[in-house]
Amino acid sequence: MDTMHAVRGHHRGGPEELRYEEAPRPVPAEGELLVRVRSASITPGELDWDATWTDALDGSGTPRLPITPAKEFSGTVAALGPGVTDRSVDDEVYGLIPFTRDGAAAEFTVVPSVVVAGKPAELDHDATAALPLAGLTAWQGLVRHGGLRHGQRVLVHGGAGGVGALAVQVAAARGASVTATAAARDADFVRELGAERVIDYAGDRFEDQVDDVDLVFDTVGGDTLTRSWQVLRPGGVLVGIVAPPAATGPDGRRGVFFVVEPDRAGLEELNRLVRARQLTPLVAQVFPVEQAADAYARLDRPHRRGKIVLRVS
Ligand SMILES: NC(=O)c1ccc[n+]([C@@H]2O[C@H](COP(=O)([O-])OP(=O)(O)OC[C@H]3O[C@@H](n4cnc5c(N)ncnc54)[C@H](OP(=O)(O)O)[C@@H]3O)[C@@H](O)[C@H]2O)c1
Repeated sequence: MDTMHAVRGHHRGGPEELRYEEAPRPVPAEGELLVRVRSASITPGELDWDATWTDALDGSGTPRLPITPAKEFSGTVAALGPGVTDRSVDDEVYGLIPFTRDGAAAEFTVVPSVVVAGKPAELDHDATAALPLAGLTAWQGLVRHGGLRHGQRVLVHGGAGGVGALAVQVAAARGASVTATAAARDADFVRELGAERVIDYAGDRFEDQVDDVDLVFDTVGGDTLTRSWQVLRPGGVLVGIVAPPAATGPDGRRGVFFVVEPDRAGLEELNRLVRARQLTPLVAQVFPVEQAADAYARLDRPHRRGKIVLRVS
């Protein structure tokens, strides 16, 4: 059996359960790629998701221990599984790994070929690894679920965060007029991403500052989500990624919750925006993969601009 080094958790828990150790090298099955991982990226809450530790998204699954975390990667194709005809060995690829599978905090990972895309030539592997989960969440939330159209008024909550920073850029690139909430110290940064206006979430109540919004994209949840109905125009859409909003509000307002899905077509849309210099993934900090436990612990502390990346090789 070939081996590799990987971050693994043998018991469900937090960062303290993660070990960097020798593990079997995965073998690509029908339709899968074996990818030599260069960089991987991680997400707040990931070690709490049922899908990280079991074979189902909703708590009904059975444990699949030990697990390897980190659901997004950038790397190089090392081998093709049977039936793969759309990739070649040595292709540079990136993508989001289905949530109930092992992740990319390892020297090698396997992923269905249909969900990966070619790595954007404009970005290095660290920046590319920061793109799939946050970028697809922004794209799917704004465009697919929110039906975003040119000229609409959009409010992004958490505009300096991993997902929010990409949502601000995607919405601006699609011709929206973007307002974002963020910490006061992040206001200039979020304006540079494309927000016309930034509201200090600690100092101001956004519902006193903005109204008649076509689409609210909420990456914060809780009170921020429920207060957001007040700023929507009749018929407007409230898209939540942390917690489900009510499905409907008064006067045709509607709420949508979704979980991002691996999606090659979505990645290719992101590639187009990167190429047009309308989208830049944000890397807050890079950790060597051996320090993955520290990297996951860092996710619990606020004040990051963008994503935490694990550098593998
Ligand atoms: N449903 C899905 O498919 C999906 C996909 C991706 C992520 N998620 C979830 O979405 C959440 C956000 O992920 P992320 O990677 O973007 O997290 P993140 O990088 O921690 O970003 C959150 C941002 O929200 C800001 N914030 C905190 N409180 C706020 C408030 N009251 N009003 C406005 N902004 C506020 C934070 O600012 P400070 O730095 O000042 O605290 C931070 O910039 C996580 O819970 C994650 O699990 C869900």
